[in-house]
Amino acid sequence: MEEELLRLKNEATASLDSLNKKEELDTFRVQYLGRKGQFTTLMRQLGGVSPEDRPRLGKLANTIKQDVEKAFAEKQAALFGVASAGKPVDDLTLVGRRIPAGRLHPVTQIMDEVCTIFERLGFEVAEGPDVELDFYNFEALNIPQHHPARDMHDTFYISDNVLLRTHTSPMQIRAMKTRKPPLRMIAPGKVYRCDSDITHTPMFHQVEGFLVDKKVSFGDLKGILSVFVAQMFDKDVAIRFRPSFFPFTEPSAEVDIACVMCGGEGCRVCKQTGWLEILGAGLIDPEVFRMVEYDPDEYSGFAFGLGVERIAMLKYGINDIRLYYENDLRFLEQF
Ligand code: DAH
Repeated sequence: MEEELLRLKNEATASLDSLNKKEELDTFRVQYLGRKGQFTTLMRQLGGVSPEDRPRLGKLANTIKQDVEKAFAEKQAALFGVASAGKPVDDLTLVGRRIPAGRLHPVTQIMDEVCTIFERLGFEVAEGPDVELDFYNFEALNIPQHHPARDMHDTFYISDNVLLRTHTSPMQIRAMKTRKPPLRMIAPGKVYRCDSDITHTPMFHQVEGFLVDKKVSFGDLKGILSVFVAQMFDKDVAIRFRPSFFPFTEPSAEVDIACVMCGGEGCRVCKQTGWLEILGAGLIDPEVFRMVEYDPDEYSGFAFGLGVERIAMLKYGINDIRLYYENDLRFLEQF
Protein backbone atom coordinates (compact mmCIF):
# COMPACT_ATOMS: atom_id res chain seq x y z
CA MET A 1 0.00 0.00 0.00
CA GLU A 2 2.74 2.42 0.97
CA GLU A 3 4.66 1.78 -2.25
CA GLU A 4 1.49 2.06 -4.22
CA LEU A 5 0.86 5.52 -2.70
CA LEU A 6 4.37 6.75 -3.38
CA ARG A 7 4.25 5.44 -6.90
CA LEU A 8 0.97 7.26 -7.50
CA LYS A 9 2.44 10.43 -6.09
CA ASN A 10 5.45 10.31 -8.43
CA GLU A 11 3.30 9.46 -11.38
CA ALA A 12 0.87 12.27 -10.71
CA THR A 13 3.60 14.86 -10.12
CA ALA A 14 5.44 13.87 -13.25
CA SER A 15 2.32 13.95 -15.34
CA LEU A 16 1.35 17.32 -13.93
CA ASP A 17 4.67 18.78 -15.08
CA SER A 18 3.99 17.91 -18.68
CA LEU A 19 0.49 19.40 -18.85
CA ASN A 20 -0.22 22.73 -20.46
CA LYS A 21 -3.77 22.74 -21.82
CA LYS A 22 -6.99 23.29 -19.97
CA GLU A 23 -8.50 19.98 -21.17
CA GLU A 24 -5.41 18.16 -19.98
CA LEU A 25 -5.79 19.67 -16.54
CA ASP A 26 -9.43 18.62 -16.44
CA THR A 27 -8.55 15.07 -17.39
CA PHE A 28 -5.85 15.05 -14.73
CA ARG A 29 -8.28 16.16 -12.09
CA VAL A 30 -10.78 13.48 -12.95
CA GLN A 31 -8.15 10.80 -13.27
CA TYR A 32 -6.34 11.49 -10.00
CA LEU A 33 -8.35 13.70 -7.73
CA GLY A 34 -11.97 13.08 -8.69
CA ARG A 35 -14.49 11.00 -6.81
CA LYS A 36 -13.63 7.99 -8.94
CA GLY A 37 -9.99 8.98 -9.32
CA GLN A 38 -6.97 6.91 -8.42
CA PHE A 39 -6.42 8.46 -4.99
CA THR A 40 -9.96 7.80 -3.93
CA THR A 41 -9.78 4.24 -5.17
CA LEU A 42 -6.56 3.61 -3.32
CA MET A 43 -7.83 5.23 -0.13
CA ARG A 44 -10.85 2.98 -0.15
CA GLN A 45 -8.50 0.06 0.22
CA LEU A 46 -7.38 1.37 3.60
CA GLY A 47 -10.28 -0.56 5.06
CA GLY A 48 -8.49 -3.80 4.27
CA VAL A 49 -5.19 -2.78 5.90
CA SER A 50 -4.30 -4.16 9.33
CA PRO A 51 -5.50 -1.98 12.21
CA GLU A 52 -1.90 -1.29 13.38
CA ASP A 53 -0.89 0.14 9.99
CA ARG A 54 -4.11 1.92 9.21
CA PRO A 55 -3.54 5.23 11.07
CA ARG A 56 -0.06 5.72 9.64
CA LEU A 57 -1.09 4.84 6.09
CA GLY A 58 -4.23 6.91 6.32
CA LYS A 59 -2.22 9.89 7.32
CA LEU A 60 0.31 9.32 4.58
CA ALA A 61 -2.44 8.98 1.97
CA ASN A 62 -3.99 12.25 3.06
CA THR A 63 -0.71 14.13 3.01
CA ILE A 64 0.11 12.85 -0.43
CA LYS A 65 -3.30 13.71 -1.79
CA GLN A 66 -3.07 17.21 -0.35
CA ASP A 67 0.39 17.68 -1.88
CA VAL A 68 -0.89 16.66 -5.27
CA GLU A 69 -3.94 18.94 -4.91
CA LYS A 70 -1.68 21.82 -4.02
CA ALA A 71 0.63 21.14 -6.95
CA PHE A 72 -2.44 20.95 -9.18
CA ALA A 73 -3.74 24.32 -7.97
CA GLU A 74 -0.36 25.92 -8.49
CA LYS A 75 -0.09 24.52 -11.99
CA GLN A 76 -3.55 25.81 -12.77
CA ALA A 77 -2.64 29.23 -11.38
CA ALA A 78 0.62 29.31 -13.33
CA LEU A 79 -1.12 28.40 -16.59
CA PHE A 80 -4.38 30.31 -16.36
CA GLY A 81 -4.03 32.80 -13.56
CA VAL A 82 -6.70 31.20 -11.38
CA ALA A 83 -5.93 32.24 -7.84
CA SER A 84 -4.41 29.62 -5.62
CA ALA A 85 -4.64 30.15 -1.91
CA GLY A 86 -3.89 33.76 -1.05
CA LYS A 87 -1.94 34.62 -4.18
CA PRO A 88 -3.05 37.70 -6.07
CA VAL A 89 -3.52 37.30 -9.79
CA ASP A 90 -3.58 39.84 -12.51
CA ASP A 91 -6.23 38.48 -14.79
CA LEU A 92 -8.17 41.63 -15.51
CA THR A 93 -10.89 39.71 -17.33
CA LEU A 94 -12.00 37.95 -14.14
CA VAL A 95 -15.47 38.93 -12.92
CA GLY A 96 -15.17 41.26 -9.96
CA ARG A 97 -16.55 40.57 -6.53
CA ARG A 98 -19.93 42.23 -6.16
CA ILE A 99 -20.18 44.67 -3.26
CA PRO A 100 -23.77 44.77 -2.01
CA ALA A 101 -25.29 48.23 -2.27
CA GLY A 102 -26.03 49.91 1.05
CA ARG A 103 -29.28 51.73 1.52
CA LEU A 104 -31.09 53.99 3.93
CA HIS A 105 -32.94 52.49 6.86
CA PRO A 106 -36.71 52.33 6.20
CA VAL A 107 -37.34 54.75 9.07
CA THR A 108 -34.88 57.24 7.57
CA GLN A 109 -36.53 56.82 4.18
CA ILE A 110 -39.98 57.60 5.54
CA MET A 111 -38.68 60.50 7.60
CA ASP A 112 -37.04 61.97 4.50
CA GLU A 113 -40.25 61.47 2.58
CA VAL A 114 -42.33 63.24 5.25
CA CYS A 115 -39.86 66.14 5.26
CA THR A 116 -39.88 66.39 1.47
CA ILE A 117 -43.68 66.59 1.35
CA PHE A 118 -43.73 69.41 3.90
CA GLU A 119 -40.81 71.22 2.35
CA ARG A 120 -42.76 71.34 -0.89
CA LEU A 121 -45.55 72.98 1.13
CA GLY A 122 -43.15 75.69 2.26
CA PHE A 123 -42.14 74.30 5.67
CA GLU A 124 -38.55 74.61 6.81
CA VAL A 125 -36.80 71.75 8.60
CA ALA A 126 -35.33 72.30 12.06
CA GLU A 127 -33.57 69.92 14.41
CA GLY A 128 -33.07 70.15 18.15
CA PRO A 129 -31.42 68.31 21.03
CA ASP A 130 -32.42 64.80 22.18
CA VAL A 131 -31.36 65.73 25.70
CA GLU A 132 -33.87 68.37 26.63
CA LEU A 133 -34.84 70.61 29.50
CA ASP A 134 -38.05 69.95 31.38
CA PHE A 135 -39.07 73.48 30.45
CA TYR A 136 -39.17 72.83 26.69
CA ASN A 137 -40.44 69.26 26.88
CA PHE A 138 -43.24 69.90 29.38
CA GLU A 139 -43.52 73.23 31.18
CA ALA A 140 -43.73 75.56 28.17
CA LEU A 141 -46.05 73.13 26.40
CA ASN A 142 -48.60 73.72 29.13
CA ILE A 143 -47.77 70.52 31.01
CA PRO A 144 -46.84 71.79 34.49
CA GLN A 145 -45.02 69.72 37.09
CA HIS A 146 -47.98 67.91 38.58
CA HIS A 147 -50.23 67.91 35.55
CA PRO A 148 -51.83 64.48 35.01
CA ALA A 149 -50.88 64.70 31.31
CA ARG A 150 -47.29 63.89 32.32
CA ASP A 151 -48.53 60.37 32.87
CA MET A 152 -49.04 60.05 29.11
CA HIS A 153 -45.26 59.97 28.73
CA ASP A 154 -42.96 57.51 30.49
CA THR A 155 -40.00 59.79 30.74
CA PHE A 156 -36.30 58.95 31.04
CA TYR A 157 -35.01 61.56 33.46
CA ILE A 158 -31.33 62.50 33.59
CA SER A 159 -31.75 64.85 36.51
CA ASP A 160 -34.67 66.76 38.01
CA ASN A 161 -34.99 69.07 35.05
CA VAL A 162 -32.99 67.36 32.32
CA LEU A 163 -34.51 64.47 30.38
CA LEU A 164 -34.56 62.62 27.07
CA ARG A 165 -37.25 64.37 25.08
CA THR A 166 -40.47 62.36 24.98
CA HIS A 167 -41.71 64.07 21.81
CA THR A 168 -40.52 66.55 19.18
CA SER A 169 -43.00 69.20 20.33
CA PRO A 170 -40.31 71.08 22.34
CA MET A 171 -39.08 72.32 18.95
CA GLN A 172 -42.20 74.49 18.77
CA ILE A 173 -41.02 76.32 21.86
CA ARG A 174 -37.38 76.52 20.79
CA ALA A 175 -38.40 78.03 17.45
CA MET A 176 -41.01 80.43 18.79
CA LYS A 177 -38.74 81.66 21.56
CA THR A 178 -36.10 82.75 19.08
CA ARG A 179 -38.18 83.77 16.06
CA LYS A 180 -41.15 85.94 15.20
CA PRO A 181 -44.15 84.76 13.15
CA PRO A 182 -44.89 83.78 10.45
CA LEU A 183 -43.35 80.35 11.07
CA ARG A 184 -43.80 77.13 9.17
CA MET A 185 -41.58 74.40 10.45
CA ILE A 186 -41.17 70.70 10.74
CA ALA A 187 -38.87 69.06 13.23
CA PRO A 188 -37.91 65.43 12.67
CA GLY A 189 -35.96 63.46 15.25
CA LYS A 190 -35.55 60.78 17.85
CA VAL A 191 -37.71 60.65 20.94
CA TYR A 192 -37.57 58.41 24.01
CA ARG A 193 -40.07 56.73 26.29
CA CYS A 194 -39.68 53.98 28.79
CA ASP A 195 -41.82 51.49 26.93
CA SER A 196 -41.21 48.30 24.95
CA ASP A 197 -43.57 45.85 23.21
CA ILE A 198 -44.66 45.02 19.67
CA THR A 199 -45.86 48.56 19.03
CA HIS A 200 -43.40 50.48 21.24
CA THR A 201 -39.63 50.81 21.36
CA PRO A 202 -37.82 52.95 23.97
CA MET A 203 -36.44 55.13 21.17
CA PHE A 204 -38.50 56.03 18.14
CA HIS A 205 -38.90 58.87 15.66
CA GLN A 206 -41.39 61.67 15.34
CA VAL A 207 -41.94 64.56 13.02
CA GLU A 208 -43.45 67.65 14.59
CA GLY A 209 -44.97 70.30 12.38
CA PHE A 210 -46.39 73.72 13.15
CA LEU A 211 -47.47 76.89 11.48
CA VAL A 212 -47.99 80.26 13.17
CA ASP A 213 -49.39 83.30 11.45
CA LYS A 214 -52.38 85.64 11.59
CA LYS A 215 -55.82 84.06 11.20
CA VAL A 216 -54.70 80.44 10.99
CA SER A 217 -57.72 78.16 11.27
CA PHE A 218 -58.54 74.54 11.80
CA GLY A 219 -59.43 74.46 8.11
CA ASP A 220 -55.80 75.25 7.26
CA LEU A 221 -54.68 72.34 9.40
CA LYS A 222 -57.16 70.05 7.73
CA GLY A 223 -56.08 71.14 4.26
CA ILE A 224 -52.37 70.65 4.91
CA LEU A 225 -52.86 67.25 6.53
CA SER A 226 -55.12 66.05 3.72
CA VAL A 227 -52.45 66.92 1.17
CA PHE A 228 -49.84 65.17 3.31
CA VAL A 229 -51.87 61.97 3.66
CA ALA A 230 -52.67 61.84 -0.05
CA GLN A 231 -48.99 62.21 -0.95
CA MET A 232 -47.69 59.87 1.71
CA PHE A 233 -50.02 57.01 0.90
CA ASP A 234 -50.05 57.64 -2.83
CA LYS A 235 -53.81 57.88 -3.22
CA ASP A 236 -56.88 59.70 -2.00
CA VAL A 237 -57.27 57.90 1.28
CA ALA A 238 -60.21 58.94 3.42
CA ILE A 239 -59.19 60.94 6.47
CA ARG A 240 -61.12 61.88 9.63
CA PHE A 241 -60.55 64.08 12.65
CA ARG A 242 -61.58 62.80 16.08
CA PRO A 243 -61.79 65.12 19.08
CA SER A 244 -58.98 64.49 21.54
CA PHE A 245 -56.91 66.21 24.18
CA PHE A 246 -53.36 67.54 24.23
CA PRO A 247 -52.32 70.19 26.76
CA PHE A 248 -50.57 72.26 24.08
CA THR A 249 -53.42 72.45 21.59
CA GLU A 250 -57.02 73.64 21.83
CA PRO A 251 -59.05 72.24 20.21
CA SER A 252 -57.13 68.98 19.76
CA ALA A 253 -57.75 66.11 17.42
CA GLU A 254 -56.42 62.75 16.49
CA VAL A 255 -56.31 62.07 12.80
CA ASP A 256 -57.26 58.71 11.32
CA ILE A 257 -56.96 57.41 7.80
CA ALA A 258 -59.08 54.68 6.25
CA CYS A 259 -57.33 51.39 7.00
CA VAL A 260 -54.67 50.80 4.35
CA MET A 261 -55.00 47.02 4.80
CA CYS A 262 -58.74 46.59 4.29
CA GLY A 263 -59.70 49.93 2.78
CA GLY A 264 -62.15 50.60 5.62
CA GLU A 265 -64.02 47.27 5.66
CA GLY A 266 -62.65 46.28 9.07
CA CYS A 267 -59.79 43.87 9.72
CA ARG A 268 -57.35 42.73 12.39
CA VAL A 269 -54.96 45.63 11.78
CA CYS A 270 -57.61 48.32 12.33
CA LYS A 271 -59.29 46.24 15.03
CA GLN A 272 -62.45 46.07 12.91
CA THR A 273 -62.92 49.85 13.04
CA GLY A 274 -61.89 50.55 9.44
CA TRP A 275 -59.67 53.42 10.67
CA LEU A 276 -56.03 53.82 11.68
CA GLU A 277 -54.74 56.63 13.86
CA ILE A 278 -51.76 58.37 12.28
CA LEU A 279 -51.15 61.57 14.19
CA GLY A 280 -52.15 64.07 16.84
CA ALA A 281 -52.86 67.69 15.99
CA GLY A 282 -54.69 70.85 16.97
CA LEU A 283 -54.63 74.61 17.18
CA ILE A 284 -51.81 75.87 19.36
CA ASP A 285 -53.11 76.67 22.83
CA PRO A 286 -53.03 80.41 23.74
CA GLU A 287 -51.28 79.35 26.95
CA VAL A 288 -48.32 78.13 24.84
CA PHE A 289 -48.20 81.45 22.98
CA ARG A 290 -48.05 83.27 26.32
CA MET A 291 -45.07 81.13 27.34
CA VAL A 292 -43.11 82.31 24.30
CA GLU A 293 -44.41 85.86 24.50
CA TYR A 294 -46.53 85.78 21.36
CA ASP A 295 -49.80 87.66 21.57
CA PRO A 296 -52.61 85.07 21.28
CA ASP A 297 -55.00 87.81 20.14
CA GLU A 298 -52.80 88.59 17.20
CA TYR A 299 -51.50 85.18 16.23
CA SER A 300 -52.90 81.70 15.87
CA GLY A 301 -51.40 78.49 14.61
CA PHE A 302 -51.70 74.78 14.26
CA ALA A 303 -49.40 71.94 15.24
CA PHE A 304 -49.23 68.22 14.67
CA GLY A 305 -46.99 65.34 15.60
CA LEU A 306 -46.63 61.99 13.92
CA GLY A 307 -44.78 58.79 14.67
CA VAL A 308 -42.47 57.79 11.83
CA GLU A 309 -42.23 54.07 12.67
CA ARG A 310 -45.99 53.91 12.76
CA ILE A 311 -46.38 55.53 9.33
CA ALA A 312 -43.79 53.12 7.92
CA MET A 313 -45.59 50.15 9.50
CA LEU A 314 -48.86 51.19 7.87
CA LYS A 315 -47.25 51.94 4.55
CA TYR A 316 -45.32 48.68 4.33
CA GLY A 317 -47.63 46.40 6.33
CA ILE A 318 -45.08 45.71 9.09
CA ASN A 319 -46.63 44.21 12.22
CA ASP A 320 -43.82 44.35 14.78
CA ILE A 321 -42.03 47.65 15.46
CA ARG A 322 -39.01 45.86 16.93
CA LEU A 323 -38.05 44.57 13.46
CA TYR A 324 -36.71 48.03 12.67
CA TYR A 325 -34.03 47.77 15.29
CA GLU A 326 -32.87 44.17 15.04
CA ASN A 327 -30.58 44.98 12.12
CA ASP A 328 -31.52 41.82 10.24
CA LEU A 329 -30.40 42.42 6.66
CA ARG A 330 -33.12 40.14 5.31
CA PHE A 331 -35.63 42.63 6.68
CA LEU A 332 -33.74 45.82 5.87
CA GLU A 333 -32.92 44.81 2.29
CA GLN A 334 -36.59 44.84 1.37
CA PHE A 335 -36.81 48.62 1.42
N1 DAH B 1 -46.47 65.49 21.09
C1 DAH B 1 -47.55 64.56 20.94
C2 DAH B 1 -47.06 63.18 21.35
O1 DAH B 1 -45.93 62.91 21.28
C3 DAH B 1 -48.00 64.50 19.51
C4 DAH B 1 -48.70 65.74 19.15
C5 DAH B 1 -50.04 65.86 19.31
C6 DAH B 1 -48.00 66.82 18.66
C7 DAH B 1 -50.73 67.00 18.99
C8 DAH B 1 -48.65 68.00 18.32
C9 DAH B 1 -50.04 68.07 18.51
O2 DAH B 1 -48.04 69.05 17.85
O3 DAH B 1 -50.67 69.20 18.15
O4 DAH B 1 -47.87 62.37 21.74
